[in-house]
Amino acid sequence: MEASSSTFLSPFSQNSQFTTFIAPSSSSNVPLLRVYSVRIEDKPQTTTSTTRKSPSPPTPRPLKKKENRPSPSSSSPIRTQKTAGKAQSPVITRPSSSSRKPVEPTLPTIIFNALDDFINTFIDPPVRPSVDPKYVLSSNFAPVEELPPTECSVVEGTLPACLDGAYFRNGPNPQFLPRGPYHLFDGDGMLHAVRISKGKATLCSRYVKTYKYMTEKKTGSPVIPNVFSGFNGLTASAARGALAAARMVTGQFNVANGFGLANTSLALFAGKLYAMGESDLPYEVKLDPITGDIITVGRNDFDGKLTMSMTAHPKIDPDTKEAFGFRYGPIPPFVTFFRINPDGTKQPDVPILSARPSFLHDFAITKKYAIFPDIQIGMNPLEMMAGGSPVGADPGKVPRLGVIPRYATDERDMRWFEVPGLNFIHAINAWDEDDGETIVIVAPNILSVEHTLERMDLIHASVEKIKIDLKTGMVSRHPVSTRNLDFGVVNPAYVGKKNKYAYAAIGDPMPKICGIVKLDVSVSEGDRRDCIVASRLYGPGCYGGEPFFVAKDPENPNAEEDDGYVVSYVHDENKGESRFLVMDAKSPNLDIVAAVKLPQRVPYGFHGLFVSERDLNKL
Ligand SMILES: [Fe+2]
Repeated sequence: MEASSSTFLSPFSQNSQFTTFIAPSSSSNVPLLRVYSVRIEDKPQTTTSTTRKSPSPPTPRPLKKKENRPSPSSSSPIRTQKTAGKAQSPVITRPSSSSRKPVEPTLPTIIFNALDDFINTFIDPPVRPSVDPKYVLSSNFAPVEELPPTECSVVEGTLPACLDGAYFRNGPNPQFLPRGPYHLFDGDGMLHAVRISKGKATLCSRYVKTYKYMTEKKTGSPVIPNVFSGFNGLTASAARGALAAARMVTGQFNVANGFGLANTSLALFAGKLYAMGESDLPYEVKLDPITGDIITVGRNDFDGKLTMSMTAHPKIDPDTKEAFGFRYGPIPPFVTFFRINPDGTKQPDVPILSARPSFLHDFAITKKYAIFPDIQIGMNPLEMMAGGSPVGADPGKVPRLGVIPRYATDERDMRWFEVPGLNFIHAINAWDEDDGETIVIVAPNILSVEHTLERMDLIHASVEKIKIDLKTGMVSRHPVSTRNLDFGVVNPAYVGKKNKYAYAAIGDPMPKICGIVKLDVSVSEGDRRDCIVASRLYGPGCYGGEPFFVAKDPENPNAEEDDGYVVSYVHDENKGESRFLVMDAKSPNLDIVAAVKLPQRVPYGFHGLFVSERDLNKL
């Protein structure tokens, strides 16, 4: 049985640009949970092991005919048309005259690039849609140029006076046209920050100036191989590995400086704001106090105590301000847990030797514990040798949840609980109940995990409430919604604490997001009802991103949990126009309080964060 979001989208009306859906009610105000026999319609059969050339996926759409295609000989910086106010599709173009002057390549660069072209052209297996730049960078996935702080116009409603700060959103935005395979996760990180002050807004879009970005900018072409798309098949992987080694030996790059993209998320901890990507250390960023421009301060190793990498999803305890994080990798210990104190002092690593090599993108904390999902996605060497992805699903592996006291100094008290069928990549929240004898986790469970990296459009994730009884070892699960949901967030003041409301994005299909829902996860398990209590669809051709909750008065301990705003970027593909939306989190229709028309397109991306003006001033 497959899962399809289309089954659940049918009741929605779409009669305006930003439309609203109120779930059908039963006798109470809470809609019944409808677990239909779900299915995929009119979609090609797929597996993650395919090497065939062109099973065209339903989305994203390919580039239009006249658009310039990436070619093996290209190493041009990407320029894109600005689309504000015009009904045009984002188009990847080569620069005719560029503010970025082309770098004159050195002889080694010419030779290495020729070898790279040879691998792309003659050694790579047939390109899969998931790594075909024509698909991956189509529509509003196409990158944009940097944008200095630019004033925006409020075109609907009014920006609330209490919304004082900046909403940052991270996402991939490749500096160069891909010379070969390219996966959505492989783009250089770009931050899009809309700063709001006294009812006015400015937008600024800047690359995170990572070591990879700066090295390649200086060289004038890609130098460091892509992690997700650079290793296709044994021969191509070996060839790229040898080429990367040659580039290192000749001084083109030093892997000790990191190879990460910082393209995934942002986090505010230990008094600093960081752009995060799980294959590298955090990159400190801030806004220039005078110009409001985004500045990359640098890569932070926390006095040499943070090595190699850190998750892009650290958890910040809202009361203690401690940051909990981990790193993971393909060699033991597969997971290393740690925390960073509010003063920036990193505490000693806790290696978790009982972990298995899994794709561990996110985790959860409670006041007592840290919970790690050990899912069916992991390194996939056999698949890679056959030309598939180096990361893939293992259907024979039984998923587990690992629970460790969050102040543990070793893994002595680590416990693992087998939970067949539970594969979550993102956690929404977790908390303790029954004096710490029960752990509750809320997370979107991916029902079709085999599609995670290769066919995101086939993913269906169902948000579940998972309970671990630490006394009996029993794990119970309860779906709280059958909609295809991910990118779930809560009021940041409730991280690790029992809470009622979550806000999540609706996949239509993933990675496109057609709207958001508000979930009341406090609904009793016995009711078997869908917990959606409010939602908004953006309308035909309009797609958004992860929602983020901003409290009206975060300093007020008596404020209601949902007394605030939900914010997100939304792009109208018909008009070629991006907007920043502010929605009333308490209203049943998530009413739009303000819409800000942005001076430049904001591509679809990953995770965001609102930073108050007070916190911005401390950076
Ligand atoms: Fe994520």
